[in-house]
Amino acid sequence: MALPEAFTAPFDYFREALSFLEKYAWIYQNANTCFLKAGTLEQMPQTFRNYFMQIDNNELNTFPLIHQSFNALTIPDLLEFREKVARLTPLHACREVEVEGEMNSSLTRARKLKSKKQHEIIKLTRKINENLNKEGIAAERYILVDFGAGLGYLGEMLYELNHNYRILGLETNSYRIRKATQRFEETKKISESRSSIIYIQHYITEESSAFIENAIMENFKYNYATAEKLKASTRLAIIGLHACADLTITSMKLFFKMPQVDHLIIMPCCYHKLEMCNTTFKFRNFPLSEAFKDALHNAQSHTVDNNYVRYLNRPFLRLACQQTSKRWSKCSSEYHRLHGIEMFLRALAEAIIDESETIHKFKSRKPLDLSLLKDFKEFRQLYELREKATNVTLRWRVEHEKRYKAFLRKYENCDGSKLAEGLICLQTTMQKMCENLVLYDRLYYMQELGQNLQMRIQVHYEKLLDEELSPRCHVLIAKKLQ
Ligand SMILES: C[S@@+](CC[C@H](N)C(=O)[O-])C[C@H]1O[C@@H](n2cnc3c(N)ncnc32)[C@H](O)[C@@H]1O
Repeated sequence: MALPEAFTAPFDYFREALSFLEKYAWIYQNANTCFLKAGTLEQMPQTFRNYFMQIDNNELNTFPLIHQSFNALTIPDLLEFREKVARLTPLHACREVEVEGEMNSSLTRARKLKSKKQHEIIKLTRKINENLNKEGIAAERYILVDFGAGLGYLGEMLYELNHNYRILGLETNSYRIRKATQRFEETKKISESRSSIIYIQHYITEESSAFIENAIMENFKYNYATAEKLKASTRLAIIGLHACADLTITSMKLFFKMPQVDHLIIMPCCYHKLEMCNTTFKFRNFPLSEAFKDALHNAQSHTVDNNYVRYLNRPFLRLACQQTSKRWSKCSSEYHRLHGIEMFLRALAEAIIDESETIHKFKSRKPLDLSLLKDFKEFRQLYELREKATNVTLRWRVEHEKRYKAFLRKYENCDGSKLAEGLICLQTTMQKMCENLVLYDRLYYMQELGQNLQMRIQVHYEKLLDEELSPRCHVLIAKKLQ
């Protein structure tokens, strides 16, 4: 979300991060269900394996807290790994955010919102309101275009806070639009609000500016085409809560494209769903900044295309939006023990089946002890075998049992479930570093674009939410300067 403290030039940061990812790509480059099939444990250095075989629960929980001192760790390879991650992760990414009590609002009272959603809406509503009213210039009206409005909670809460807001909620999902409109009309007492919040079904693209202008004109009777840019008494901002995948980037591009938009306040999520080209394996919107692209071209050992496949891939983006270290740091030893066993067995099942087969876990059957599972009959109680094409149940066969036993023999001198949990611990340690690369690249892209277009802007991220409650917790705040 920012340039880490150890760097002064974005290019140097990107270059060092890329060389780190190249070295440690084995930690994330395969889906966790496939880590045995892909031989990930064979790539784990022996020093790492030994460490995770004997680690106690306190150490396991503390290892990913990279900006906290960790005197228990003395093994050079692991110290180097942890220190490098810390160097590549800004301090601000690890700061604590206060969880507030319920805001006294009819919205949170009436909807019985879950604590996660309540926390998100309250915090973002306040942040938007604070930013839009910072300069003390009271806009006669402020039109807020909510990108990916979902069920419309954010817009409603904003209107409740400030009746000068007009909200245009754009959402591609027709069910959500229907629900948002219906619920809003049923519950609103203030008749004025009927014409103040409008939801429209629309799939937002980089070409959506004309659609947005027309929708504003039709619904709020305001013609932006004739308004004097940024000076109009009716102003315009793009907002969004968890605008997933490419939608946040679309909002950044429209912020530059639409002269009337003076603020962009948006929280991103679902990086792993970014659009990717199936032949080049490059993402349409990652990396975005020239500095990152230059660093990628400079990565020496392989061609740029190879780098996308090897370490700047979908598993990397999935790691960037995995659970964060805060929740991990509170897990009990029993949780880690069971989680490790589940993960090892799931990967084992994946490793012994044919390409045409798939497995399905029987609900409610929990593996409690790995030693019991030496018997293939016990393992069969946990997973059902199915044909991938038809989903028809199949019988486990002798070949499966042979492969199963071969895998268990391979790991008989170590506890595969502890190594599985060790692998997740390493991923959790890297998660914030990966997320920072994705998010800082976007921020720097906006700064580059602002310079190229000779447009003065201010842009930064703030950690807004409690990461344990809501792991995608950073808000991008951009504004055009007069
Ligand atoms: C993670 S949900 C968040 C919903 C809502 N903002 C909230 O926080 O409750 C993301 C929403 O964005 C919508 N969406 C994604 N891409 C979109 C696009 N290009 N145009 C319009 N809506 C989009 C999805 O349908 C989904 O409802």
